[in-house]
Amino acid sequence: MRTAWVVCVLLVGGCKQAAEQDAKQTAVAITGGDVERGKAALQHYGCGGCHVIPGVPGSTGQVGPSLEGIALRTYLAGRLPNAPENMMRWVQHPQAVEPGNAMPELGVKDADARDIAAYLYTLR
Ligand code: HEC
Repeated sequence: MRTAWVVCVLLVGGCKQAAEQDAKQTAVAITGGDVERGKAALQHYGCGGCHVIPGVPGSTGQVGPSLEGIALRTYLAGRLPNAPENMMRWVQHPQAVEPGNAMPELGVKDADARDIAAYLYTLR
């Protein structure tokens, strides 16, 4: 009985790990960015001051929407179809996309936007 339970827990744990690995590979493939560098960039630019971002320490901001599950959202900011190019565009130029919204232009560099997009597409 106990053995069956242990096997079950190991299997579920293995599946979760495999799913996370899969999400990471997909995110890298569609963005060409680096997930770990993206995580560091999210901290560097202080995105967590306004957003809850799973896995990024200190990201508890409530100004903008939580970015949990952002990979699965249909539209970004309710406006841009959720695709890698649009994610990078939004992260770099939210004021050009939607003038007057509360997310500021943070001077995010091209390479950083790519890495940030890679991280965000692991959030599903
Ligand atoms: C001063 C607060 C603030 C900061 C800092 C900020 N954001 Fe935002 N962000 C917002 C707000 C407000 C929105 C919602 C805009 C809208 O829907 O019109 C938003 C929307 C978004 C969205 C779309 C979310 C969705 O559910 O569609 C993404 C992605 C995003 N921000 C990423 C970032 C990243 C990455 C950074 C750091 C480089 C960042 N934000 C920094 C306030 C902020």
